[in-house]
Amino acid sequence: MTAQETGTPEVAPETLRARALASLVTARARTTLLTTCVEDPDLTAQVSPLMSPLVWDLAHIGNQEELWLLRAVGGREAMRPEIDGLYDAFEHPRSERPSLPLLAPEEARAYAAEVRGRVLDLLEGADFEGDRLTESGFAFGMIAQHEQQHDETMLITHQLRTGPPSLTAPDPDPVPPFTAPPEVLVPGGPFTMGTSTEPWALDNERPAHTREVDPFWIDTTPVTNAAYRAFIEDGGYDTERWWSPEGWAHIRQHSVTAPLYWHRDAGQWLRRRFGVTEPVPPDEPVLHVSWYEADAYARWAGRRLPTESEWEKAARYDPVTGRSRRFPWGDADPTAGHANLGQRHLRPAPAGSYPAGESPHGVRQLIGDVWEWTSSDFLPYPGFTVFPYKEYSEVFFGPEYKVLRGGSFAMGQVACRGTFRNWDYPVRRQIFSGFRTARDAESA
Ligand code: AVJ
Ligand code: FE
Repeated sequence: MTAQETGTPEVAPETLRARALASLVTARARTTLLTTCVEDPDLTAQVSPLMSPLVWDLAHIGNQEELWLLRAVGGREAMRPEIDGLYDAFEHPRSERPSLPLLAPEEARAYAAEVRGRVLDLLEGADFEGDRLTESGFAFGMIAQHEQQHDETMLITHQLRTGPPSLTAPDPDPVPPFTAPPEVLVPGGPFTMGTSTEPWALDNERPAHTREVDPFWIDTTPVTNAAYRAFIEDGGYDTERWWSPEGWAHIRQHSVTAPLYWHRDAGQWLRRRFGVTEPVPPDEPVLHVSWYEADAYARWAGRRLPTESEWEKAARYDPVTGRSRRFPWGDADPTAGHANLGQRHLRPAPAGSYPAGESPHGVRQLIGDVWEWTSSDFLPYPGFTVFPYKEYSEVFFGPEYKVLRGGSFAMGQVACRGTFRNWDYPVRRQIFSGFRTARDAESA
């Protein structure tokens, strides 16, 4: 059987227009909550040199929307040309942003709202055919994804803040004890990776191409806190042989001994989560680990991280048809029954949740819950072309960044699909990162 893409059915322009509107509105509701749930001084403060002040994210969201929708698509004049430089992520690193003459919270809100009002007018009559930017409403989809990505970034900032809780959400539903096998076999052979048909896929997800993958076993669920605690209690952080040389040097230098936000109190592991200290729940996927920690755990477990191709094959390949799906469960957009997305809950769901979201091979929670580290460097696919700007993906290609897949509970659904690629430095763990492990089938 030849490997092929799902051949995503043509989506009617009016459907895409409605989807763009809904995605923009959903993202803005979240942005508004994330920037009004604290007092203004907390919006201008910098919580960590890794993050921007929240008020920067807010005006940057509005500025990107103005640049790509009002100016590039709509042909409008700049509303406030003097602020473009302030909100260009490449002109000023995050650590410098608090010292810039940023728009004050009230001004930033008014600017973002003004842009949005004009964008909604533009969207109503926008052509969804023409060049690549307008085709299928790509620019609207890209900007909705951009805002959702910054909503995740802002949630990371909220998690870094100390002090009383400012955000709450209901917990995911409890699940019956998970009894499926701990790992599944994915047979070897070609599959189609990436996409050429998904209308709002970003440049780094393109084009669709064939990958040969050897047979492998992959964990049915992400690695849990209980499993990770066993690694800690077995002296994992004190045993050099489990670590890559860079990982070992890093954890020694920075005295890393547990996932970020964990601490031990009277023999019990506790964690801080959005202002609340609570026991670490054993059944939940482990969160806030670096690539180095994920890599070391996997070695300790006699396993390894999956490659990016293995992850995508486990998530998308349908052995019955030989096609690659948009999502593990099929081609339909995610619902609340498929995956934990969109900050509906402020934590991952217990391992084994979302049976309706499993892949044809029975792999669960690939989409949502936690970003999953893969062993792969962030590299372009064969035939990659920059679109629409090289600072989205191209400037990050190379061995310094590792790929993460699947999205977290903090990620909006418009910015999450089986082909979506995220990347970060292997030391990072303020992100909502976890992992699952794999092994070669031959070593069974
Ligand atoms: C794809 C999550 C790495 O946040 O740096 C936001 C997304 N790009 N604005 C980031 C992004 C431009 C990007 N990541
Ligand atoms: Fe951005």
